[in-house]
Amino acid sequence: MLRRSKIRELLAGEAAGGAVLVQGWVKTKRSSKTVSFLQINDGSTLADIQVVVDSELPDHALMDSLNTGCSVNIEGTLVASLGKGQRYEIAARRLEVLGLTDPEEYPLQKKRHTLEFLRDMAHLRPRTNTFGAMARVRSSLAFAVHSFFQQRGYVYLHAPIITASDAEGAGAMFRVTTLDLGDLPTRDGAVDNDADFFGKPAFLTVSGQLEAEIFALALSDVYTFGPTFRAENSNTSRHLAEFWMVEPEVAFCDLDGLASLAEDFLKYLFSYVLEHCPEDMKFFNKWFEPTTVETLRSIVDSRFERITYTEAIDMLKASGENFEFPVEWGTDLQSEHERYLTEKKIGSPVIVTDYPKDIKAFYMRLNDDGQTVRAMDVLVPRIGEIIGGSQREERRDLLLSRLQEAGLSEEHYWWYLELRQFGTAPHSGFGLGFERTVQFVTGMQNIRDVVAFPRTPRRAEF
Ligand code: 4AD
Ligand code: MG
Repeated sequence: MLRRSKIRELLAGEAAGGAVLVQGWVKTKRSSKTVSFLQINDGSTLADIQVVVDSELPDHALMDSLNTGCSVNIEGTLVASLGKGQRYEIAARRLEVLGLTDPEEYPLQKKRHTLEFLRDMAHLRPRTNTFGAMARVRSSLAFAVHSFFQQRGYVYLHAPIITASDAEGAGAMFRVTTLDLGDLPTRDGAVDNDADFFGKPAFLTVSGQLEAEIFALALSDVYTFGPTFRAENSNTSRHLAEFWMVEPEVAFCDLDGLASLAEDFLKYLFSYVLEHCPEDMKFFNKWFEPTTVETLRSIVDSRFERITYTEAIDMLKASGENFEFPVEWGTDLQSEHERYLTEKKIGSPVIVTDYPKDIKAFYMRLNDDGQTVRAMDVLVPRIGEIIGGSQREERRDLLLSRLQEAGLSEEHYWWYLELRQFGTAPHSGFGLGFERTVQFVTGMQNIRDVVAFPRTPRRAEF
């Protein structure tokens, strides 16, 4: 029995002239009097391999039953192709049908489907060119995340998914409970959380940051890469209820060092995917966003602009643009503001630093002005915020007053405070939204199309 070859290897001419076995799904079939052609794909690459089935071949009789979507085994010889469009093809010797498809019922026909239609077909959309390319680019980017940090000696930390603390202090968390919602235990007229699995309320994590800080203050350079959850009811093209975040946390590092890390990291990811997924990137560039490859290339060679929040507000006020949300010092930047700065005003990625403390999380380091904190957001064209991070407040007394101001309980964060009591050190970290990164790289409009099974308000199918 022959070993299965990947179509990617065959198209590169590996095993040319030899006997090969391919296994995959039929994309199209064409027949003439003397010969039939099948285009087969196995997901190993964007391109299909052409299979030539001579009508003299005994198995040619099977051709009638084959349609788009059928799965097949094909044995034959890898030969140089006479036709246009491919260098190699397979001259079939033996054909075997593994799974038939009724063409009347198979939802993925030859024509191009809308992305909306395909979202309801999450079990079949990986077979389309678009979602095959998506899966490969995403996988490649995930590998690049690890190789970037591992090459630099960072330790990969698995932060917990279930947590009793709210890292961002922002609400919007999914509760995890074993209580019977139809018959809640009560004590003194309120739900008895003591009866719950953990003896107190527990949630799905919104960020692994606080745990990463624990390890940074011991191992110096760490990162997490895992799923995070937010129950915000935002039905936008940039929000998911379940998404993946990459969170490096670095001891003895200030905000400037962190901004440089973020810049190096993004450039590494972009050049990695350009180098390792050239065909898939060409595909996205052709069908979805005609500037994406060029944009990534120019970012790799650029220097990220750094401006303060106050400077950003001045630029927005001077812009003469008609924004939907008013621009006022003290209010958060909206996506339209972020996009103006990175797309129109600056024309490249921009790192905005030193936001007002009142619109940022309690753990960010207070500046000497008493009004702003050492926060940073990295903004990129089309997406806006792709990274959010900060230098952390390492001074115990200041952290405590920020906690109190935010109305958070001191007892709850006792261990976070103790880190500042025992050998505290300056440290900084950021979170990169992994789906937003895939979205930016591929040029896809909607974040739901860069994740296999999107979870959004009122949708958790598959
Ligand atoms: O800016 P955020 O909320 O930062 C944090 O969670 C920090 N604890 C990170 C840190 O300092 N370690 O989120 C970080 C990034 C955002 O910049 C964005 O790219 C992405 O996560 N993000 C989302 N992506 C998809 N769907 C959502 N609902 C997202 N919310 C945030
Ligand atoms: Mg943010």
